Order: sequence, then C-alpha cells, then structure tokens
Amino acid sequence: MLERALSSRRYNIHGDTDEPSSSEYSKTMKHNHFFCRITNRASNYLSRFTIGSGYLCFCVIIAFLFILLVFGSSLLFSSRGFVCISSFDTLSRARFFGFDDLESDFGALGVPWYTYNLILGKGRSKHGNTVEWTSKDLLKGLEEFVPIYETRPIKNNLYGMGFDHSFGLWFMARWLKPDMMIESGAFKGHSTWVLRQAMPDTPIISLSPRHPEKYLKKGPAYVDGNCTYFAGKDFVDFGSVDWPKVLHKHGIADLSRVLIFFDDHQNEMKRVEQALNVGFRHLVFEDNYDTGTGDHYSLRQICDQSYIRGGGHSCFKNSDEARIRSRRKKFWEKAVDIKELCGPDEAWWGVRGYMRDNFNHSNEPISYTEHFQNSRFIESILDVYWELPPVAGPSLTHQTRYDPARAPSPIVEDGKYGLFKRLGLAKLDNSVFNGYTQMVYLQISEQ
Ligand SMILES: C[S@@+](CC[C@H](N)C(=O)[O-])C[C@H]1O[C@@H](n2cnc3c(N)ncnc32)[C@H](O)[C@@H]1O
Repeated sequence: MLERALSSRRYNIHGDTDEPSSSEYSKTMKHNHFFCRITNRASNYLSRFTIGSGYLCFCVIIAFLFILLVFGSSLLFSSRGFVCISSFDTLSRARFFGFDDLESDFGALGVPWYTYNLILGKGRSKHGNTVEWTSKDLLKGLEEFVPIYETRPIKNNLYGMGFDHSFGLWFMARWLKPDMMIESGAFKGHSTWVLRQAMPDTPIISLSPRHPEKYLKKGPAYVDGNCTYFAGKDFVDFGSVDWPKVLHKHGIADLSRVLIFFDDHQNEMKRVEQALNVGFRHLVFEDNYDTGTGDHYSLRQICDQSYIRGGGHSCFKNSDEARIRSRRKKFWEKAVDIKELCGPDEAWWGVRGYMRDNFNHSNEPISYTEHFQNSRFIESILDVYWELPPVAGPSLTHQTRYDPARAPSPIVEDGKYGLFKRLGLAKLDNSVFNGYTQMVYLQISEQ
C-alpha cells in the first residue's frame, strides 16, 4: 500500500527532481494528445462554420470555445491532482505546501495501525474507542511534569527512559489513577520513581533480576518505600508470578484498576498473552520498536501489516520506499534502509523475518502467516492502542535518533520554540530527548 501511495508521486520526497517515470510521462503525453486532438478538430470545425454564418454563429462559437477552455483546464487540473497528490498522502501534501525539509515530515513513511488515525487528528482506535486525554491535556501535563523531572534522583539514566517516555508514563499513570502499579524491568529505579511521582500513595510491585539497591553502591539509584520488589534473589518473571495470590495479598480485587508497565525487553506478544490470561487490562510498553529494529518483537512490529495504512513494506531495491529510506538513514540513527529492513526471501516483518525476545538472546524465524495471525489476534482483543507522540519536534530537541517519518506528530511541533521554552523544555539537556521509541498504551477489551 505504501508502495502504491509513494509511486503516485511525480518527484521523490526530498525534492530531488527525478525525471517522471516512463508510465507517468506517457500518462501526461496521453492527456496532451487527447487535448490537442479535440482542440484541433474543434478549430477546424469552427473555422468552416464561421465562414458562412453571421453574428449569432459567432456568439455560439465564443460560448463553445469558453466551454472547451473550462473543460480543458479542469482535465489538466484533475490529472495533476491524481498523479501528484493523493488525498491522504501526508508527505505529498506537505511538499505541495512547501514543507519538504527532513524535520517536518512526521509520519511521512507511514505509521502503522491506529496511530494513522492520530495523524489525521481523529485520535480514535479501530473500534472507535479513544483515549480520554487530548493534546491540550498532554500540553498541560508537560508544563507540570518538567519541574518534577528536574528533581529526578538519577540524572543520567543511560539504558533507561529519557524525558519523552518518563513524561508518557507519568501522564498515563496519573490519568488512569490505578489502585496498583506493576513494573517489569526496573534497572536503577528511574521508572519506579516516575510512577511514584504520578501516584504518591499507590502500591507498586517491581520485578527485575537485579535489585535497584545494588546500583546504590555505585551511584544514584531509587528504591521505593511502598514497593514490593520481586528482585535479586526474589526475582520472578512476570509470566511466572502467582498473580491472584499476590493481588489478593494486596487487597486488589478489580484487575481493571491495575496498570502494568513493561520495560523488560521481552517479546510483547508473549507479555500481552500473559497479561490477558490473568485479566489485566491496562498495559504500557516502553520500547515499542519499529519494524526492522530493536531486541524484541514489539506491538508496533506486530501491527505492521500490508493492509494497514503505512504498514507492510516493499523490499524492491528500486522502489520509492528504498530511495526514501536510504536517504533518511543518513539523518536519523534509527532509520533503517531497505538492506537492513529486509532479510532472506524479502522478509521485512519483525526484524528481517525474526521474532526477537529477551534482549535478542532468543531469535526465532517467524513466517508471514504467523506474524499476520499475531496482528489479527492483537486486533481482536484491544479496545485502544495509543502511541505517545514525541514531546517536541527535532528542530527543538536536537534529537537525532528516531526517524520522524515513522513517528506521530509531536506534542510541541517544530517551529514552536516559544512554547518549547515556556514549558521549560529548553532547559533540559538535549540527550534526554534521544530515547523515544513509540511508547504505547494498550487497553484490553473486557473479555
Ligand atoms: C531498560 S532497563 C529498564 C529501565 C527502567 N525501566 C528505567 O526506565 O530506568 C531493562 C531492565 O529489565 C531487566 N530485565 C531483564 N529481564 C527481565 C525480566 N524477565 N523481567 C523483568 N525485568 C527484566 C534488566 O535487568 C533491566 O534492569
């Protein structure tokens, strides 16, 4: 689908003046021939007619010429619209209005699945359910969160969350107001601290092979006083916890009041199934890696399907997608070109046809049929899939990692430096904006 959308463009996306393709060229020629034939015939006919007629005939001729002119120009206009600008083609539209620099093309390479609706400003999921919060709420949240973030105990959270996802997690936890928060993957405890800022009195359960207190010996870390740690020698994987027992012990009866945060780099298909089996309904995944990237099979990869706008990919080396990707790779660290995207037999899904798990320690090939079935399954159990947008455009944050062409439009758009500054974002170090990987909130439907 992407291939089809991209092929409808006359020029490549960055304004390189490619020659029109031969098919596009012949299409233009065909219109010209047709138009010339009509005007030639009409003028022959008219010249014959005027010789032997009077004033009335002259008026008829003028009217006829006028109609011909209107018809001709509308033919030209509509054929241009058809070839160059398809109605939903964000990128072509952006170029049409003159915004063709690399920084202002959010979603230009397609953003799979529901996020596409967000690009169109609908903010709805497949089933018509939508998150309750609006972009205004996100802006308000940002204003409140920046001073909180500045007080974080772990200033340099390399390998953990940066600003965008810290804000996303804080915002969602505060909005959903769960009775219990569970995190899988704590590292030094930054995400535990974020959850605590959102909900000061709510109990947390944290699962992580290494206890965050271990990091305290070497530098800043966060250990929470109202958190039950299944960590260190007490570590249990999320899929092996006796959740009914643990939740009962904490007095939690309503599973729809529990928020789970996964930042453990495990196959997200596996994690959704485990959560579904227990009956949890609100999940946030920190690392929602794009197709062809990352160390575990992610929701975004699962949702990347040919029948979804912006989904499915062409491994054809001479395609528009290949050209765009190779150019974007020069600008964005996480952009992948067609060589990286596609494995043997043109397998583009997952990571080159592999379903990664556990920080890529497990790496199994997956057939397209299985991959497709996974997406259908996910689709069947979800009410909401919502990707956190990046907090601000790259011209403001100077981030160089994620490719805007595969991300939804940011909360603070490029060019809005005044707002960026007013929100206090200009005070933060650029490095905190480099960790965005499409954090996603899933709401599982009531089963
Ligand atoms: C990227 S770090 C988490 C960062 C943290 N959430 C933050 O933002 O600061 C991933 C963590 O997952 C932990 N981990 C590895 N396997 C895990 C598993 N099966 N369950 C839970 N955590 C796991 C790692 O030890 C590591 O601490």
